[in-house]
Amino acid sequence: MTAEYAAERAIETSQLAKTYPLSNGEAVHALRGIDLSIEQGEIYALLGPNGAGKTTAFAILTTLLAPTSGSARVAGHDVVRHPARVRRAIGVTFQEVILDQELTGRQILDFHGQLYGQPRPERNARIGELAELVELTAVLDRKAAGYSGGMKRRLELARGLMTRPQILFLDEPTQGLDPQNRAGIWRHIQRLRGETGLTLLLTTHYMEEADALADRVGIIDRGQLIVEGAPAELKRAMGADVVTLCGYGDAPAYLRLLEAEPYVSQAVEHSLTQSAVGDNEGVECDQWRLQIGVDSGDRRLARLLALAAEPGLHVSEVSVSRPSLADVFLAHTGRALRDS
Ligand SMILES: Nc1ncnc2c1ncn2[C@@H]1O[C@H](COP(=O)(O)OP(=O)(O)OP(=O)(O)O)[C@@H](O)[C@H]1O
Ligand SMILES: [Mg+2]
Repeated sequence: MTAEYAAERAIETSQLAKTYPLSNGEAVHALRGIDLSIEQGEIYALLGPNGAGKTTAFAILTTLLAPTSGSARVAGHDVVRHPARVRRAIGVTFQEVILDQELTGRQILDFHGQLYGQPRPERNARIGELAELVELTAVLDRKAAGYSGGMKRRLELARGLMTRPQILFLDEPTQGLDPQNRAGIWRHIQRLRGETGLTLLLTTHYMEEADALADRVGIIDRGQLIVEGAPAELKRAMGADVVTLCGYGDAPAYLRLLEAEPYVSQAVEHSLTQSAVGDNEGVECDQWRLQIGVDSGDRRLARLLALAAEPGLHVSEVSVSRPSLADVFLAHTGRALRDS
């Protein structure tokens, strides 16, 4: 590795944007100017709901799709000007399983190596090594059609690593897997942390996945990067605990009162859909959800509720929890990750 390369970020984008034209003359703004800067050796997760733009970003970074504007460098090479150089430096696994299931695991890995011009002895050695890593040695000579969902994903992971990439891209590596298989894939991904300097960019809409795997998370919503940081850091900024109140009444007045409370690190109001508000059956539907980050939920709850009485809020639901990436997402976007 030259000194020049060592100074490069693994992935760097500047105002990366993608607009898909539609046949009816309209357009989808899938990415609206994203700046990423990912260090070599980092595990970075792009976290966002369906349609956020994750796969679009992924496709541009892996040279499968041209950006509409902005630029991206991967392993030091511009994705538009030098796609072949980028491809030589990366491994990729896609959101959908794309294995040729009539082939055995070994054949799939071997063909991939051949495609990249790996000599046979090197392919054989690498296949053995990777089969161990993803625990597929025992089934390597069976057709992939007979693999479980988790085994197929592990095989894809191995294929992505076949050519010893500097950067591995994983688009939704555990989509469609049950929790047990998901945890298995996580274990394998975590093991890769040790592989010499490998940088890993994964996309996911599972908060727990980003939390469990990533050194840094970028939360992406509607084509924009909303916030990024280490999961622990993002959660810490929320406060030690999050008190969530649901109810109705003058929330802005309450939020003004909270500003004077020194133990409140942040307070955010999210309006809820109000279809049933004021209906005449006496069902009083929640108007908002308030997220209040505090130093200690146990100690502050009574005070928070007493304060809520001042502007006459009606609180119908109270919960206290440790902040999760779900709270971070909600605080920054006003929407629950699963709403969309
Ligand atoms: N080929 C295309 N033509 C038109 N619109 C597209 C195309 N591909 C994606 N889109 C739109 O661009 C937006 C971003 O899609 P993208 O697939 O990048 O999101 P995502 O974050 O990967 O979502 P998911 O979690 O469902 O995989 C969505 O509104 C999607 O409908
Ligand atoms: Mg996607």
